[in-house]
Amino acid sequence: MTAVELLLALLALLDFASGLKLTMLRVPSQKLRSSDVTLKCFYDLQNGTLYSVQWYKDNSVFYRFVPADTPSGQMFPLPGVTVDLKGSNDNQVILRLLDLDSSGTYRCEVSSEAPEFLTEVAEAHMNVMALPKDPPKITGLRQKYNEGDPINLNCTSAPSKPLAVLYWFINGNQIIPTGKDSKDGPFLTQYRSVTDEEGLEYVTLGLRLAAKKKFFNNLLHTMKIRCTSSMGVLMWHVDLSTHIHAVSAASLTSCFLQTVWLLSAFSYLFAHKFCANLL
Ligand SMILES: *[C@@H]1O[C@H](CO)[C@@H](O)[C@H](O)[C@H]1NC(C)=O
Ligand SMILES: *[C@@H]1O[C@H](CO)[C@@H](O)[C@H](O)[C@H]1NC(C)=O
Repeated sequence: MTAVELLLALLALLDFASGLKLTMLRVPSQKLRSSDVTLKCFYDLQNGTLYSVQWYKDNSVFYRFVPADTPSGQMFPLPGVTVDLKGSNDNQVILRLLDLDSSGTYRCEVSSEAPEFLTEVAEAHMNVMALPKDPPKITGLRQKYNEGDPINLNCTSAPSKPLAVLYWFINGNQIIPTGKDSKDGPFLTQYRSVTDEEGLEYVTLGLRLAAKKKFFNNLLHTMKIRCTSSMGVLMWHVDLSTHIHAVSAASLTSCFLQTVWLLSAFSYLFAHKFCANLL
């Protein structure tokens, strides 16, 4: 026997020793709450005979298929795992009505009969998500502000799993913390997330700014506010708008009179500044 022949013989032996192979495991990484899922596990016994296929979630068995047993398929209750026995067999297991506690690591374990008694396993994680039922809510917005008034808003996401991420927009521009704070804002305040009794999470993002003209459309005296909540590529948003009081005829007249008076007193610059604040 040459070295090559010996090697080939050894490889053939090794191949025989691992005569059972898992060829495919399909466990989706993300599923929605209340949906169903089909987990798949395909194997190649080569010349062996199937003894059992067992499915585990987080190391606890919930389904066993043994061809020699009657019935072949059996389930074991686990929180969050509702097996559809009719639709399940040695290659797949159907879970109905997924819930948050259906999230976990799913393992398929295939074993062959005597004389080999081989066992192969494969596992993957599945996450069950709950989408928010509503768009986020904005609180604290008044219909009108006077120039310079503080605007204090909160945007709160609807409960979801995982937690949604919130974004504020003013007149279509996203508010990004720059580190360079202007005294008028906008400032963001990220509050701690809260977990409700169902296990869903929500969070509040505060927005604070001064009602300055630069934030309002000059003609309509309007500021458009949007808060968006997002979970990956999915987005929900709420749009509101508010106004700044237009400069009243009385203050315009006063500005004019002051200007005339101040001009006569050679204080043009001061008058200009005073009016600029009003307009
Ligand atoms: C499987 O069995 C066939 C014939 O039944 C045989 O030719 C083949 O070598 C066997 N394969 C293994 C891996 O034992
Ligand atoms: C915004 O929400 C936080 C946290 O819930 C709360 O402490 C704060 O008073 C709220 N502010 C406004 C303006 O509603």
